[in-house]
Parts: sequence; structure tokens; C-alpha cells
Amino acid sequence: MPAGFEAPYPAWMARFDEGAAPLVMAYFGVQHPGSLPPEALAPIKAMLPAHPAPRHWIEAQCRDGAGYDTRIIIAYWQDAKSFTAWRQAGGFDAWWAEPARETEPVGRFMEVVAPPMERLEVVYSPPHLPEGAGNLQSRVSACPVAEHAYWGSARDRIPASQTDPLDNSAGTLVLTRNGARVRVEPGRNVCMIRSGQDWSDTTGEERATYLGRVRPKLVDGMTYLRDEGLPIGCFSCRFMQVLDGVGAATEKTFGHAYFRSLGALEHWAEHHPTHLAIFGTFMHEMAPLGDAMQLRLWHEVMVLPPESQSFEYVNCHDRTGLMGAAGP
Ligand code: HEM
Repeated sequence: MPAGFEAPYPAWMARFDEGAAPLVMAYFGVQHPGSLPPEALAPIKAMLPAHPAPRHWIEAQCRDGAGYDTRIIIAYWQDAKSFTAWRQAGGFDAWWAEPARETEPVGRFMEVVAPPMERLEVVYSPPHLPEGAGNLQSRVSACPVAEHAYWGSARDRIPASQTDPLDNSAGTLVLTRNGARVRVEPGRNVCMIRSGQDWSDTTGEERATYLGRVRPKLVDGMTYLRDEGLPIGCFSCRFMQVLDGVGAATEKTFGHAYFRSLGALEHWAEHHPTHLAIFGTFMHEMAPLGDAMQLRLWHEVMVLPPESQSFEYVNCHDRTGLMGAAGP
């Protein structure tokens, strides 16, 4: 942190108990080249309430880089034990293994990450509105975190960075095909970010500035990462609209991206014109609102050991998720 630095606006962090097990974040996706039928995720939704149900889940929608309509349920469990128990109790494992999955008129995928606590940081504002893994926190940080709003602050918020460079010089993805089923192993220290925006409480000039000036830059940045990000280490990027659970759009979006490493993500954020345009417009036109700002920004960033990642695709096109970065 630069000496004497004070962040121009506050942010809080999710805190978890000492020794807490890795959280599980499961992305259950479905895709179609045209428009998905509204009930495309109904089988997953029907299973979600089974015990032990996820502590938090959302549904979101986007068009991916191949133009496929994509819908995802993102569900959070407190630990791997409860996720495994749910997969059994809810019938998910049996349903996922059925040969019928391979001949459906839609593609399906399941991307699961389970970041160890010392490799995860979750930052949000205001403190009473947690997002993402913040919904599973033990408590919110007692005060706004000092370590934010400067380059390198995400790394400073990840405890493991104190003793580990968290790099990944190899960056090789291994793809294994079994008929219509594909698995991708991205290897060590792949970095995932889900970075959210909520403008539902903005009004007047603030709302006009966000929607008219900041959001278009965000769309440009997410489109760049999605379509041209691979050479700079972005394996996959989806810019998604959060749905309200019955299919209607909310005033919340997020970028969900996998990078070869934390360093590659940091490099894009600090140096690439697309994030600098988002950052610069925001800092110049919105950050001066300080505490009065109603736009809510949050993110969760994690650096994943190999055993904390599982990526499975059934019947999906070749550029889905991490498949595009893994090659044929
Ligand atoms: C409206 C949307 C966004 C705005 C206004 C925004 C703005 C900012 C700002 C002001 C920072 C400074 C650091 C901080 O507060 O800790 C930052 C950092 C960062 N942003 Fe964004 N951003 C947005 C979207 C995104 C998205 C969608 C991604 C990636 C998918 C992203 C990736 C990052 C990363 C990784 C950092 C941390 C860099 C570091 O700690 O060195 N941002 N952003």
C-alpha cells in the first residue's frame, strides 16, 4: 500500500472463522444456440432444496462468445462435505450421470471451485449487504478495510500472498473427452474472479452516470476478455445479468472470469485500456460521491490449488467455459 494511502470510498471484507473449511461454489450451467426454454434449469432448481441445501444461490444469464444463450445457477455450500451430501440426497449425481444428458437439445456444464480460506478474498459495500461468499461469512470486518483502491490490494487481501507468490508459469490446461462429456483440468493457481455491480438503489445523476458512462466501458472490457483475452491469460469470461429466480432481469450484473494466474488478472486490471477505462471513469465521475454513492460494487477473488477445481461439460460447444482455452 502506498505510504499514507487512504481509500477514497469504503469497502468491507467477509470474515470467516479461523480454520474454516473451503467453501464450495458450484456453477450449474445450460446453453443453447437459440433461446433457452424458461424451464432449462428446472431440474437443478427442483433439487436445490434437498438437505443440505446451499446457503445461498442466484441465477444469471448471458450470451457467450459463440452467441449461445447461457443460464447459470451459482450455489454456495459451507464445505465439501455438505456439497457431496446434497449431490447424493438431491439426486444430482444420478441425474448428471444419466446418458440422457448426452442427447438433450441443450448443453450443460458444472464448474465447481472450493477455495481454501487463505486463498480467498471477498470485498463489498455497504457492510449490511453481503454478496457472493459474503452470504456465508461468520461476520463482516469490524471496520472498512484499509487495503483497497490501489493496485495490488486484491493480493494484499489474500492471506496466502504473504508467503506465496501464487504464480503459475506453466498455465497448461488438460482436456479429456469421453463422448459428449468433457473434463478440463486447469492446473495449479488458476485465479477466478466474480466482480459484481448493483445499481438498483441509484437515482438521478448517479444512475445516469453509471448507466451512460461507466457501464458501456464495463461491457467493452468484458467483451474484450471474452473474445480476445486468451493471449493475456484470460481463459474464460462471462458478463452476466442476475435474474430474480423466476426469469426476470434485476439491476445487478457481474463479470465472471478465470485467469491463468492472479498476476495475469492484476496485469489486466492495472494496465489494460479496457479496465483502465472502467476504473478511470468510475474514479473520476463516481468515487467523489464517497459515502453518498449508491452504486454497489463487490468481488470475490480466489487462487485455486488443483484439487479445488472441477470443470465438466456435457454436449457443449467447443468454446464453452475453459474448453476454449484448452483447445481441441
Ligand atoms: C463497474 C465495474 C467496475 C468498476 C467501477 C471497477 C473499478 C475498480 C476500481 C476503482 C479498482 C481499484 C481497486 C480497489 O477498489 O480495490 C478496481 C480494481 C480491480 N478490478 Fe475493477 N472495476 C469494475 C469491474 C471489474 C471487473 C468486471 C473485473 C474483472 C472481471 C475487475 C477486476 C478488478 C481487479 C482484479 C481489481 C484489483 C486490482 C488490484 O488489486 O491490483 N473489475 N476496479
